[in-house]
Amino acid sequence: MSILKVARMGHPVLRKAARALDPTEVRTAPFQKLIDDMVETMHEYGGIGLAGPQVHESVRLFVAGIEQKDGSLRVLPFVNPEITPVGASTAEDWEGCLSIPDIRGKVVRPRNVVIKALDRRGKPFEMELIGYPARVVQHETDHLDGVLFFDRMQTFDTLTFLDEYSRFWAREHDEDEA
Ligand code: NI
Repeated sequence: MSILKVARMGHPVLRKAARALDPTEVRTAPFQKLIDDMVETMHEYGGIGLAGPQVHESVRLFVAGIEQKDGSLRVLPFVNPEITPVGASTAEDWEGCLSIPDIRGKVVRPRNVVIKALDRRGKPFEMELIGYPARVVQHETDHLDGVLFFDRMQTFDTLTFLDEYSRFWAREHDEDEA
């Protein structure tokens, strides 16, 4: 496995819509390696999610750590994800991004979602997510459409450097970059 280079804000790859994948392509050895490399890269940089465009691969794939019912974290790949909000409830919370290092800001998003995607064998699956994991998959799916979390901020009042976030705001929540 390899650690991949992470594209930072300003690199055009982060602003392009990524292309959808065919299940047969998902099953190829190079794609399986890309998934494993993205998981390793996400862990190396202490992130909770990482999308294809963030590692210069403009394809509809992200990996994300999803908390399980027993409290453990399972890192899963999502291919061609499609998100549908459940209900009208929204939540405002802090987000960070490996492509916008050491910055935090608050974003309002739907609280509950259903995500449909293909797994690493190209098989469809679906899961309902509530709260933080729902936020993470929305943030990652945005990356596949060239959208960064800054674009989702209603105001920039909460835009905060990591040091100041740790000093003044971290007790409110402690989120990882995605
Ligand atoms: Ni991000």
